[in-house]
Amino acid sequence: METKIKIFNDEQALIGMRKAGKLAKAVLDYIEEYVKEGMTTLELNDLCYNFIIDNKAIPAPLNYKGFPKSICTSVNDVICHGIPSNYVLKSGDILNIDVTVILDGWYGDTSRMFKIGKCTKLAEKLVEVTKRALYAGIDAVKPYRYFGDIGKAIQKYIDTTGFSIVRDYGGHGIGNYFHGEPFVAHYNTGSRGEQILPGMFFTIEPMINVGKFKTKLLKDQWTVVTVDKSLSAQFEHTIAVNESGIEILTE
Ligand code: MF3
Ligand code: CO
Ligand code: CO
Repeated sequence: METKIKIFNDEQALIGMRKAGKLAKAVLDYIEEYVKEGMTTLELNDLCYNFIIDNKAIPAPLNYKGFPKSICTSVNDVICHGIPSNYVLKSGDILNIDVTVILDGWYGDTSRMFKIGKCTKLAEKLVEVTKRALYAGIDAVKPYRYFGDIGKAIQKYIDTTGFSIVRDYGGHGIGNYFHGEPFVAHYNTGSRGEQILPGMFFTIEPMINVGKFKTKLLKDQWTVVTVDKSLSAQFEHTIAVNESGIEILTE
């Protein structure tokens, strides 16, 4: 079967993607000191917006399919695509900030978790497990392996924890566009999928729930929550594949 996954063979693409990935990571590093009790997610959004613009880049989410803000802020039982608002962060919250920048036409996409004040042991465990899930997926990526290997590796790990893996959303191809082929499943789909080849750029971004994996879309048409209201966490990196291995562009 012919693959629709784009291969970027020129050095300029890799150079551009490295710069975009580096800036996306820098946004998360920058915002860290502001993420604390009493801050609103909208204030965090505005700080990130200014930082991105000051770095001659564009926040990819802003106006993307009508998304109204520059970053995604997903608190507690929000799985992903939370919209920055006047919500005031409080001790015990867990927050995912997902940043995507466009720099010279290239996209860098990364997210991480932040713990506000004193969190429960369960919340801390979820955050730790989710980070490990991302790296279990990344470790499965080698040139000439298959996309199905990623979800298989994550599932193998998560099955030891009692938590669940979101199925309705996945990683994606990226490059000089935000979301392209393939859909990168974070669970074992039972099929091998397309082959991972040098020149591919894609994200891995597992969403892990304390309870069941089922998702619900809120009326705002963006915010995705757990049906059972259990806590959810996510980490994301953008990855480049080359002949000998991989590069994590947002690390
Ligand atoms: N950054 C998200 C991802 O990892 C996509 C956010 S789309 C938005 O793919 F419109 F919600 F911002
Ligand atoms: Co992504
Ligand atoms: Co993202």
